[in-house]
Amino acid sequence: MGVRVDQVILGDCLEKLADIPDSSIDVCFADPPFNLDKKYTAYDDQKSLEDYLAWCEKWLVELVRVTKPTGSILVHNIPKWLTYYAATLNKHAHFRHWIAWDAMSMPLGKTLLPAHYGILFYSKQAKGTKFYEIRAPHKTCRECGAYLKDYGGKKDQMHPFGYLVSDVWTDIHRIRHSKRRNGEHPCQLPIHLLERLILMTTDAGDVVLDPFLGTGTTAIAAKNLGRHYIGIELDPIYEKIASDKLANSVPGLPGFDVPGQNSKHPRCRREKAVSPAAHFD
Ligand SMILES: C[S@@+](CC[C@H](N)C(=O)[O-])C[C@H]1O[C@@H](n2cnc3c(N)ncnc32)[C@H](O)[C@@H]1O
Repeated sequence: MGVRVDQVILGDCLEKLADIPDSSIDVCFADPPFNLDKKYTAYDDQKSLEDYLAWCEKWLVELVRVTKPTGSILVHNIPKWLTYYAATLNKHAHFRHWIAWDAMSMPLGKTLLPAHYGILFYSKQAKGTKFYEIRAPHKTCRECGAYLKDYGGKKDQMHPFGYLVSDVWTDIHRIRHSKRRNGEHPCQLPIHLLERLILMTTDAGDVVLDPFLGTGTTAIAAKNLGRHYIGIELDPIYEKIASDKLANSVPGLPGFDVPGQNSKHPRCRREKAVSPAAHFD
């Protein structure tokens, strides 16, 4: 069966991934169910440990298979599950980063307060992976606009596009209130998280795949940035939310340069003409 880019596929990701050719996707991003008994409408989020891990191993291996040699695999989850994912991915791909996304959650009793989600960043191959550095605006005082850091007295040498983003992300906030989530989806991610990941790992015209699309955040971010997307979602309610949002979204964000090819800084590059991805209809 042929797979088109720029579509949301309703169904089980393991089944649907089988239709995607080897080495055809630039970036896979996965935000799977956390097995924490979240209230999804079509998915039982409480598997046994063995079942959950065996299932995760299958789709992780599939994600590596479909990723191009220059591509990356990004997986978001709580640290506990990422330790198992890393053990699988270490066998099939190459570790680049563990991104700690600072996002406060609830005290769980006699533990340290969980204060970050992780995003595993693996590349398909050890060398030749697409990667663009990301900068974020220098922090300024809300009242007077002055820079908060003095950079060792070298403010005049500050980079005009901001500071280099590290592997600890504190500037992107979770969508806390269920009212702000589409269809009150229990785990919708903020779009800026996906935009940053996509800018970091792709060029305009590349193909981004999300096997757990939920309300469509990855696809919307890809479309906004002039990338192609393929999303898979099991639940028809979320699939419809994602498809409706995509139908009503327009590529390009106000005041946001769409990246192109000619500069090292994704936010200031110009768009180049894009040919449709070779592997897809
Ligand atoms: C953590 S949520 C993803 C949320 C998404 N990142 C967003 O921002 O909306 C996981 C999603 O995976 C879906 N899902 C669960 N099992 C699936 C499967 N086998 N195939 C495809 N989707 C599945 C769930 O319905 C849920 O919407």
